[in-house]
Amino acid sequence: MTEAFEPKNVIVTGGAGFIGSNFIHWVVENQPGVHVTVLDKLTYAGNLENLAGIPEDRMDFVHGDICDAALLDELVPGHDAIVHFAAESHNDNSIANPEPFIKTNVEGTFRLLEAVRKYDVRFHHISTDEVYGDLALDEPRKFQPDDPYEPSSPYSSSKASSDLLVRAWVRTYGVRATISNCSNNYGPRQHVEKFIPRQITNILCGIRPKLYGDGKNVRDWIHTEDHSSAVWEILTRGRIGETYLIGADGERSNIDVLRAILHEMGHAEDDFDWVRDRPGHDRRYAIDATKLRDELGWEPAHTDFSDGLRQTIAWYTENRSWWEGVKSATEQKYAKQGQ
Ligand code: NAD
Ligand code: TYD
Repeated sequence: MTEAFEPKNVIVTGGAGFIGSNFIHWVVENQPGVHVTVLDKLTYAGNLENLAGIPEDRMDFVHGDICDAALLDELVPGHDAIVHFAAESHNDNSIANPEPFIKTNVEGTFRLLEAVRKYDVRFHHISTDEVYGDLALDEPRKFQPDDPYEPSSPYSSSKASSDLLVRAWVRTYGVRATISNCSNNYGPRQHVEKFIPRQITNILCGIRPKLYGDGKNVRDWIHTEDHSSAVWEILTRGRIGETYLIGADGERSNIDVLRAILHEMGHAEDDFDWVRDRPGHDRRYAIDATKLRDELGWEPAHTDFSDGLRQTIAWYTENRSWWEGVKSATEQKYAKQGQ
């Protein structure tokens, strides 16, 4: 087995967002001696409150854009790794306006790759299983790392483009990079535009939850803390140039997830609205994480979805001030789209 890489000074892009901030909390709690520099543009999805409680000596925050090459020239030297979470991350937004997705997800990743090439810094690229397109509800197959890329939406095609840039920079320039493609995350601090937080906060506001299409679409849910531990394993022990799929065998239909939320929050199972389907809506995602489990010995800690969902509902119930300010603008945007 190759020796583990032991980074001490890590840049985390997009660290003020949902998964990036959960990753930083995880690193600070589980990896003593690691210092994090956050680079985040603080778009509508970034929130400094997500980083509250991180000790000052463990983290610096830099407000900036990953597309800013001059800023990267200042920032990157002296760091030994970049974990790249920053992205425009919501499919529905990408359908309404794809442009920022191309800019941040494609150009931003290109700028970071040029910086790590110049300064010889280890790079880990965070991506999504959505690059593989979708599966039929009744096929036994799950996504495999070497499956062909068949993205459906502007979001997933921009992420697929960024993955291909990483693969090319590894092969052509010898950049030390790895890629992980993870399934749908849930947990605290996820923006209320996303499925699970949208439904929980709707119920808390007295708005009926909204289900797209026939509700039979399947997503493979993983707790964001399990995503964090997997990323750390890949960063420190993964093989350069490899793609690892991250998932925790959490396949569930949207209607089942919604009914579980309604039940947990004391509402009738049919107390929701059917709304217009998403154009190009992927039917099913499912991850085979055998490579990650066998090669790196990773195991998820959150194996009980009902338990994780209860904790997530409790977090949104106890942290109303975190989401109340952005809730009505988010719902207005959806209402305009008939969703
Ligand atoms: P998010 O939208 O919650 O956060 C994105 C963060 O990136 C925000 O803090 C935002 O301010 C920052 N950002 C956006 N553009 C930037 C730019 N140009 N420069 C610097 N910072 C910028 O996203 P998330 O759900 O936490 O997703 C994080 C990553 O994980 C993304 O790369 C996403 O594709 C990937 N991913 C997400 C999921 C999921 O279920 N949410 C699943 C698999 C992979
Ligand atoms: P989402 O959280 O947007 O993640 P992704 O598009 O990356 O899978 O949506 C998860 C699933 O929930 C997806 O099948 C779309 C569906 N959905 C609804 O049914 N209602 C909603 O209000 C939202 C936001 C999503």
